[in-house]
Amino acid sequence: MRAVDIIIKKRDGLALSKAEIEFFVNGYTRGDIPDYQASAWAMAVLLQGMDAEETTNLTLAMAATGDTLDLSSVVDIAVDKHSSGGVGDKTSIAVVPMVRACGLPVGKMSGRGLGFSGGTLDKLESIPGFRTNLTKDEFLAQLKSLGMVLTGQSVDLAPADGKLYALRDVTGTVPSIPLIASSIMSKKIAAGAQAIVLDVKTGNGAFMETLEDARRLATLMVSIGELSGRNVVALLSDMNQPLGVEVGNALEMKEAILTLRGEGPEDFVAHCLEVASEMLVLGKRAGSKAEARAMAEDALANGGGLEYLRKLIEAQGGDVSYIDHPEKLPVAPLRVNVEAPRAGYVAEVHARTVGETAVGLGAGRMKKGDPIDPAVGISVLVKVGQAVEAGRPIFVIHARKAEDVEPARQALLEAVRIGDEPVEPLPLFYGLIE
Ligand code: URA
Repeated sequence: MRAVDIIIKKRDGLALSKAEIEFFVNGYTRGDIPDYQASAWAMAVLLQGMDAEETTNLTLAMAATGDTLDLSSVVDIAVDKHSSGGVGDKTSIAVVPMVRACGLPVGKMSGRGLGFSGGTLDKLESIPGFRTNLTKDEFLAQLKSLGMVLTGQSVDLAPADGKLYALRDVTGTVPSIPLIASSIMSKKIAAGAQAIVLDVKTGNGAFMETLEDARRLATLMVSIGELSGRNVVALLSDMNQPLGVEVGNALEMKEAILTLRGEGPEDFVAHCLEVASEMLVLGKRAGSKAEARAMAEDALANGGGLEYLRKLIEAQGGDVSYIDHPEKLPVAPLRVNVEAPRAGYVAEVHARTVGETAVGLGAGRMKKGDPIDPAVGISVLVKVGQAVEAGRPIFVIHARKAEDVEPARQALLEAVRIGDEPVEPLPLFYGLIE
């Protein structure tokens, strides 16, 4: 077999066989196939696409290039969740303890923020001492003893994907739906997931800007699940405006804690209940969606979720007093309101601009390894559809430096659009793909 023939076959729009895909993935991972051939291949895939079977073979070939976790001896069913990323998305921090309180174990490997979108690990690390670098043995031991882990990628999951993703990043081949689907699913499968709830976000603050693309990505990932013997469902959720109120690491950690105390913002609570319900059904803890929802609501109302968050923080070395006293979390020295420039109805709160503005304040990083400031961020006090008076605070800027405030204020005023006509609120979800 020759790499060039596989590139030509894909260039000409033909489907690749399992053997061809494995040859290419393994050859590239070993270094036998050079970057220039892998780039040409990735561009051919971007332009010609791949069907569900090819994408599944690509996913499984990538998953097999590194460590794989077998969780079957640790839990009866390993359920994972994955969000495609967005602004204000602190869902895992609230949902993992919620479903654990309902008897569903979850061992989850999360990521850091990049660009305008935040990452669970950065948010959790605003609790002093909390470790996100558990080893594989620690991961397995904690999953067995506590039934819950939220950590970084502790093993070398799908190294083929790491190498290919870095190449795609610099060759214009990131936005290929089969390449994104296989990239995400290869890591989930290697991490031992038998059932996965995908939260595929769509809108200006998401990777998939249009609902049509989000639906195609979600459908393909559900098909990969089916063809590879995993049970996968995908929620399509809105990311045209930030989720919840807070955007910024300690701010979002605090919002997740308040949510588990029953004091979360309406949209975020509704989002968490939906994701938790899907996980409970997939993990066979509930026989129906209605039963799952009632269980998830109970975990919020009776403090069960909060108790499990406390246990999680304790197990991973964090200071649990922050859970009881979230006011101890880092606070930015400057807090400045941004007021509505006019009265009317909120027509837009541009999620990506809010995310980028938070990054500009120091909440995120533009490249791997940049330091972040846990205290800074933005509170988003309005939602699309809401009526506002002129002069009412619509954002709070949490800044470290005085010189950061005015640029943030200008950007936020551009992110928000207020009109004369009533506007329908944005839906939280656009559907479920099973
Ligand atoms: N996230 C991933 O893990 N891979 C992609 O290709 C895109 C988003």
